[in-house]
Amino acid sequence: MSRVALVTGGSRGIGAAISVALKAAGYTVAANYAGNDDAANAFRAETGIPVYKWDVSSYDACVEGIGRVEADLGPVEILVNNAGITRDAMFHKMTPEQWNAVINTNLTGLFNMTHPVWGGMRDRGFGRIVNISSINGQKGQMGQANYSAAKAGDLGFTKALAQEGAAKGITVNAICPGYIGTEMVRAIPEKVLSERIIPLIPVGRLGEPEEIARCVVFLAADDAGFITGSTLSANGGQFFV
Ligand code: CAA
Repeated sequence: MSRVALVTGGSRGIGAAISVALKAAGYTVAANYAGNDDAANAFRAETGIPVYKWDVSSYDACVEGIGRVEADLGPVEILVNNAGITRDAMFHKMTPEQWNAVINTNLTGLFNMTHPVWGGMRDRGFGRIVNISSINGQKGQMGQANYSAAKAGDLGFTKALAQEGAAKGITVNAICPGYIGTEMVRAIPEKVLSERIIPLIPVGRLGEPEEIARCVVFLAADDAGFITGSTLSANGGQFFV
């Protein structure tokens, strides 16, 4: 029986590439999504990967949704916390709603998703948690006080939990993508993207979602058990920690 991998935000953008790559690597994959039914149904039809709708910012919804996945497929042994949103604004214009939406999804979402699967992973003595943080959690980004705070928080969460999981066969790692060619990045004003962002990427282009997916497959593997608490940067050379 192949291990079950659950990918949040797994039907679009980087998450879709992660779901597809994990399936190709032999895992049984479930893709969570929050809102876009059309995209999720198209993804399921195209890939054969089942999709499950719930909002990772709600703890109760996560418990219920993970319960559905586990009833259908078996215990979740690999969790990829990929779901994320942006509500970019200069800080002087940022509203409490923009702050809270990003913190609740991009940071609290990791608690909400990981807590319900953690006990089972401890009991079975195996687990792989991969958290998708961001270059902007490492370096900070103007217009993203909310997003940078949440993504930096994801790194602290990763390092703390890695210490708790180590003796139980559970690894917890983070990936920090740079600017990847997804809808999220293409929503940046064209002038900002072409004049202020792409020139700062030494490889001279946006990344591909598949270039992040291969990092996840690497960290999810059974033989990656000695790698925990680490941060893997994939940003085209834009930022070195
Ligand atoms: N880097 C450098 N300069 C930036 C910038 C950036 N990322 N974003 C904005 N600026 C600059 C603008 O060029 C502008 O400079 P000038 O006045 O000299 O022209 C100044 O900041 C103000 O920007 P705007 O005129 O656009 O101001 P606004 O209030 O209309 O909009 C904003 C502000 C919403 C932050 C908008 O600029 C924006 O969306 N910027 C992009 C922010 C960003 O990088 N987001 C990352 C999204 S992708 C992601 O989050 C995925 C990931 O993990 C990497």
